Amino acid sequence: MVSPGLLLLLLLLAGTRWLWGRWKLRSLRLPPLAPGFLHFLQPNLPIYLFDLTQKLGPVYRIRIGLQDVVVLNSNRTIKEALIQKWADFAGRPQIPYENLDLDLSLGDYSLTWKAHKKLSRSALMLGVRDSMEPLVEELAQEFCERMRAQAGAPVAIQKEFSLLTCSVICYLTFGDKVKAALLPLEPLPQALLTFAGLKLKFLPNPGLWKLKRFQENRDDIVREQLKLHKDSQVSGQWKDMIDYMLQGVEQQREGTDAGQLHEGHVHMSVVDLFIGGTETTATTLSWTVAFLLHHPEIQKRLQEELDLKLGPNGPNSQLLYKNRMQLPLLMATIAEVLRLRPVVPLALPHRTTRASSISGYDIPKDTIIIPNIQGANLDKTVWELPSKFCPGTREGSGTGEEEPQARLGRASRAICPRPTDRFLEPGKDLRTLSFGCGARVCLGEPLARLELFVVLARLLQAFTLLPPPDGTLPSLKPQNFTGVNLLIRPFQVRLQPRNLVPQDQGQNP
Ligand code: HEM
Repeated sequence: MVSPGLLLLLLLLAGTRWLWGRWKLRSLRLPPLAPGFLHFLQPNLPIYLFDLTQKLGPVYRIRIGLQDVVVLNSNRTIKEALIQKWADFAGRPQIPYENLDLDLSLGDYSLTWKAHKKLSRSALMLGVRDSMEPLVEELAQEFCERMRAQAGAPVAIQKEFSLLTCSVICYLTFGDKVKAALLPLEPLPQALLTFAGLKLKFLPNPGLWKLKRFQENRDDIVREQLKLHKDSQVSGQWKDMIDYMLQGVEQQREGTDAGQLHEGHVHMSVVDLFIGGTETTATTLSWTVAFLLHHPEIQKRLQEELDLKLGPNGPNSQLLYKNRMQLPLLMATIAEVLRLRPVVPLALPHRTTRASSISGYDIPKDTIIIPNIQGANLDKTVWELPSKFCPGTREGSGTGEEEPQARLGRASRAICPRPTDRFLEPGKDLRTLSFGCGARVCLGEPLARLELFVVLARLLQAFTLLPPPDGTLPSLKPQNFTGVNLLIRPFQVRLQPRNLVPQDQGQNP
């Protein structure tokens, strides 16, 4: 039993430590504090946080309970933190979740985490390098065939895109085409996806038990796949990412870093690939369709570009990702959609692993950092008419109101490129911060970019996108922000098949 004297001493020590911490903070030059404490209830949080920069500048603090959170809202500050000082900002906040140490996306920065990310990245970039593009092409063409069967009737295309991207991940990880083809009929995609909700289980959550069952179901499926792969393993050969990662773990055990990674890490990589790699890409594809329905003139030019470069030979025409710059308008359109609707607009929260600084402000160790990617993509010092959809059009194609700053920007063209040249100038860098940057950069960026390119090229080659018969255009206003993804509101589109003339007929009339 603890004596009252000892208890008093412990309380005194804790109090002194707390006061010492507060005193130390006072001596620091911290970023300005935004008044209020209900910021996270804002329905359009990324834009709300971005708007606060008008009063507070691109770096400021908001308070959540007793915790200070620093928000970075510009290209410059995000790159300073995540690239120049990457090791200081590579941590993740620690939440009460049982498998956190095995998790790739939410796991904290450590040598084991680094090895985990390296292995998962190699599995994607080396393990399935040769099969990735033919697979995406094959599934994109099957997708177009399914859409053709709809015979121009309105479709809820978001769901179709989710099934497509889920099949891609399923195929790359499980390596089983038959199983992948059956998957959308099973509750598996949902089982895998709802996992993200479970991570918030310390919050009041009425659907918790349902989610728990989904998680158990998910873990059973992944465990079964791991067992199947182990049973059929041939050393030095791999047909998919699980094979590659299991062998990577084995080899590492035999090497000097004995026991760092184990099967649990492979299990969680698979889960993260499904969570990170399905809704994100599917939502970006849906946003692109929505913008093109609002901009039929750009859709027409994209189809002209595809017809000119690939010929009117339908899906049989050669489409290679390495030649993607031969389709500059398509690349510019993808870049513009990623800029305006970065599907993970606030990235995932980071944590400082040690004391650091941003823009001359002190950032203490263990501070939670939110990189506001959507805010940075709307930075008026970088983009003219930042809210307008202008992938690179000869004549400019904004919808909505003119912004006064935009006119200013046009006058000072040296600083702000014209929106008409946004991504079409030769040698223009097509990358925004939409996939994050630095140590925590999105693992699936190369795959996502490949999928966006192939699926959109094939879709626009085969179909003209039209609104449903009542003419309703999709809303470009995102759904209320509930945590991670910038979701589009449900909408329908008609895919009217294009009557492409086969090449030999076209050449020999
Ligand atoms: C992390 C964006 C597709 C897997 C992230 C982050 C962003 C992002 C912003 C957070 C970076 C940070 O915390 O600083 C996107 C976008 C996508 C996409 C815009 C599609 C358009 C994918 C795909 C996969 C994937 C296809 C898997 C195949 C991951 C993983 C992480 C991540 C595993 C965690 C990385 C880490 O913590 O180190 N993504 N992503 N993502 N993404 Fe993606």
